[in-house]
Amino acid sequence: MSGEKRGGASCPLVRKNSVLVQRRVVEGDAIRSIDIFQPPVSRGELIFKPCLIRNQEPNMPPRIIARQLSRPKGALGVLVAQLMNRGNARMNAFAVRQLELAASDHVLEIGFGGGLTLPSLLEGAAYVAGVDRSPDMVRRAKSRFSEAMAAGRANFCEGRVEALPFGPGLFAKVCTVNTVYFWSALGAGCAEIHRVLQPGGRVAIGFLPKERMDQMGFPRDIFTSRSPDEVVAALVQEGFNSIRIERPEPATPWNVVVATR
Ligand SMILES: C[S@@+](CC[C@H](N)C(=O)[O-])C[C@H]1O[C@@H](n2cnc3c(N)ncnc32)[C@H](O)[C@@H]1O
Repeated sequence: MSGEKRGGASCPLVRKNSVLVQRRVVEGDAIRSIDIFQPPVSRGELIFKPCLIRNQEPNMPPRIIARQLSRPKGALGVLVAQLMNRGNARMNAFAVRQLELAASDHVLEIGFGGGLTLPSLLEGAAYVAGVDRSPDMVRRAKSRFSEAMAAGRANFCEGRVEALPFGPGLFAKVCTVNTVYFWSALGAGCAEIHRVLQPGGRVAIGFLPKERMDQMGFPRDIFTSRSPDEVVAALVQEGFNSIRIERPEPATPWNVVVATR
């Protein structure tokens, strides 16, 4: 039995009594050799065991979880979405506050995942659009907010920040939290956000900065850690102004970058 073959470590789902040993060498990076030992698990149990990985961060989250965070799917995706809603509540609430929503605003959330912020966006704005690259998350949002959709106050669709499925200047506010790790390029995402914002519109981008992400040891072929300076530089490049990096307290590990079109 072996894990996936793409770059970085792998940690497969384990069922019943099984033992897995995988060894692989990746040249030219921090990862030079990887051993994964999966101890036997009790009968009928379905678990994710931390991988033991040499020459890499010792507590790297299993690839299957990392993949789910990047694009939640299926029953495990629902579980991951619920966990995200719990774990990311403060950062999301803070990001929404930075938007300073007005009752007439049309607002877009990119990568809404479990839909944590959607109730507060609907409460504070006239219209809420959500885009996510996970078809399952879009389906869940459509079902959960069907009344708002029927009232013409919300819509949710599949799409990517790099090619937003909206015309120019449609939104007064754009919010995105814990998604920059998955953007193919910061410039591509910032350019698209700039395009769909009205002149004077505002974006709030929440994320854990590079040094924290690197400590957490997410697989680097799934997560790209970003520093606040990199995000600010991409926003400047795409023509944003009044850019600031906000944290509720100086010691808060995450930040929200706010900018005006
Ligand atoms: C880690 S979850 C964060 C969910 C939520 N924003 C939160 O903070 O709890 C990332 C979400 O963004 C979506 N996503 C990832 N990359 C994306 C992209 N390039 N464009 C649009 N959505 C993306 C994923 O499908 C997933 O639902």
